[in-house]
Amino acid sequence: MIIALNNKSNLDKEEFIPYINSLRKVPTEDQLIVCPGFLNISSVPEGFDLGAQNVSCEGPGAYTGEVSASQLKSYGVRYCIVGHSERRDYQRESYEEIHKKIQRLFESGITPILCVGETKEERENNQVNEVLMKELSTAISELSEEEKSKMIIAYEPIWSIGTGIIPTNEQIIEVFQFIKLLLPHTKVLYGGSANEENIEYLRQISEIDGYLLGGLSLKPEKLEIFLQKLH
Ligand code: 13P
Repeated sequence: MIIALNNKSNLDKEEFIPYINSLRKVPTEDQLIVCPGFLNISSVPEGFDLGAQNVSCEGPGAYTGEVSASQLKSYGVRYCIVGHSERRDYQRESYEEIHKKIQRLFESGITPILCVGETKEERENNQVNEVLMKELSTAISELSEEEKSKMIIAYEPIWSIGTGIIPTNEQIIEVFQFIKLLLPHTKVLYGGSANEENIEYLRQISEIDGYLLGGLSLKPEKLEIFLQKLH
């Protein structure tokens, strides 16, 4: 399984080394992808798959404050989260920008982890498929079949992120089947309050190819329990 760890804007310089040392000791057969903040990327030792949390829509050049896909590549980054709901919301990231980021990543040989998911209100209004279709179709337009099968999708219901609330297994299965109908060869992760307790329910869902973890990514000892219970 793919276990992607989204540290978000956590872990200062002095916290990161002890963190990564604890993470190193977590025994697992799963593929761990560590996605630290940009400043911690160069402190990730060999042996981890490295991910970033964002990338510039543009290539290298006069784009102050941006980090290009080729810069990420040169630091050993192999994966990059795109379209996280926090960026879509707080940074007003548009469908077009997300599309461009995916293009830049593929040009540099980095695998995008595209986040999609609905708000609570959209779920209550039965708009889940509509929202996902819009997020997916705008992001994957112009991708080759090979690129579509290489990319990773993370279904993260916005109402689940950081709330401790997870959808029912039936709700997750319905969404995963919808995504896999559109992208049959693409790996799909679940993200949103997944933890060492609810993994006992989530693990029953055979459609899930892995997890994108926020809060749990910061707690290696709990992550270890999560990974033990996963299999
Ligand atoms: P939590 O696991 O903290 O709910 O965050 C999920 C997430 O946003 C991962 O990208």
